[in-house]
Amino acid sequence: MEVTVGLAWVLGVVPLLGWLFWWWNDIWYGIPVKIRCSASGTKLPPGQMGIPFFGEMLTFLWYFNVLRRPDDYINSKRRKYGDGIGMYRTHLFGSPGIIACSPSITKFVFQSSSKFIAEWPNNEIVGLNSISAVQGTAHLRIKSFITGAINQPDALRRIAILIQPLLITTLQSWAQKGRIVASNETKKVTFENIGKIFASFEPGPVLERLDKLFEGLMKGLRAYPINFPGTTYHHALQCRKRAIAIFREKIEKKKEKNLQGGAEIMNDLMDGLMQFKDDEGKQLSDVEVLDNIANLIFAGYESTALSTMWALHYLAKYPNVLQKLREENIAISKSKNGELITIDDVSKMKYTNKVIEETIRLTNVAAMIFRTATEDVEFKGYKIPKNWKIMLWVRYLHTNPENFEDPLCFNPDRWNEQAKPGTYQVFGGGTRICAGNMLARLQLAIFLHHLSVGYKWDLINPDAKICYLAHPKPVDGVEITFSKIK
Ligand code: HEM
Repeated sequence: MEVTVGLAWVLGVVPLLGWLFWWWNDIWYGIPVKIRCSASGTKLPPGQMGIPFFGEMLTFLWYFNVLRRPDDYINSKRRKYGDGIGMYRTHLFGSPGIIACSPSITKFVFQSSSKFIAEWPNNEIVGLNSISAVQGTAHLRIKSFITGAINQPDALRRIAILIQPLLITTLQSWAQKGRIVASNETKKVTFENIGKIFASFEPGPVLERLDKLFEGLMKGLRAYPINFPGTTYHHALQCRKRAIAIFREKIEKKKEKNLQGGAEIMNDLMDGLMQFKDDEGKQLSDVEVLDNIANLIFAGYESTALSTMWALHYLAKYPNVLQKLREENIAISKSKNGELITIDDVSKMKYTNKVIEETIRLTNVAAMIFRTATEDVEFKGYKIPKNWKIMLWVRYLHTNPENFEDPLCFNPDRWNEQAKPGTYQVFGGGTRICAGNMLARLQLAIFLHHLSVGYKWDLINPDAKICYLAHPKPVDGVEITFSKIK
């Protein structure tokens, strides 16, 4: 009798519990969708939503953190479920969702901004009134101003001159040190320049304090939103509060100077936000100005710093590319007779601009871009249920050999032709497209100009492993020897 019961457990109950555990999320989330879909004949995309609470998180971490082959996460799905239309159901980062990894579905989502909204789970940290958090007309209103202030030719012309002296002295200081960790140094110089463009901060103790605060703040963007002393999220909120206090002080000083006749208005982004009036003549409140300044700093900081770091890495690994870059920039430099370069010079730097696109393609700052479905959406016979996340796996677009030949090779000449439609989505798309894409390109162009004309460098650990989370980075942070060309 006892043996029979034991056998029943081993052969029946245990496998059943194991099966239930494995398919828990599919049953929990999938069945209501199946019932809703039965009339319309649509179905959920193929895939597996994994175990309770964690969903597919462990598989995701396995490919990204343990195997260090992030693209095989999607390849494994393609092998298991077929290519179909490039959508797979999953459960990641605490929510049920659909992975989208083909150009057609990515384009569809970007162009359907009323059906899919960009939502941050940690809006308190992003800033409730910031460009990233607000929706609809409020978003368009602030976006048009911000793009005008930092991403259009007039603004870029001014910014090119503003940021150059610091980039030049930074490169000189790297050469004096002789050996640097590029990830630390590119972060420092990017932050100093952003501080200057956005709020006229000069390098010094206040900016250093802000940098530390932003480090804490940004960790909170990816943390579980548990606001309890000791949690990353709680620490991030504290950092945000302190950073906002520094910006508030700056606003007060600016207002004071304004009252005294405005002789010292710096015309930085903060001034612009303070003076901005929409079509109805309405100005932004102080809280809106503060939220947007903080948001813009974290949007433009790590992304640009990482791309700059990867440029140093790839150029050291591909000396033939560096040689061509150097030749183009030396020619420009000779024509300038020691003057700073302008955006007109940058537009003539054809090869440099290809190096920039190639660097940003391979940096893959954002592996995926998130949207939330505001209603049940149908795409080619498949359902994206209301309130589910759709994860646009843009990294895979850039590393898929069907989109880019020999995709992991750093080959700026591939940009002699345009990328296939919908395959190059480094800056996102639709109404949410990156507000600083031209500013990022400009910063890289000016950096590459002065770097290639005056300096040489070597990787200390050319075969350093890469960690992919939160953003791709060699584990040594790209340690290099750095010196002036004699
Ligand atoms: C290489 C550097 C950069 C990369 C790869 C990058 C990438 C991105 C991506 C993927 C998005 C999300 C787009 C979407 O949801 O469709 C984004 C949004 C954004 N980026 Fe960038 N970015 C970079 C630099 C910058 C810079 C320098 C700034 C400004 C200082 C900036 C400001 C923003 C803002 C404000 C948004 C939110 C736009 C909105 O919600 O409408 N970014 N960026």
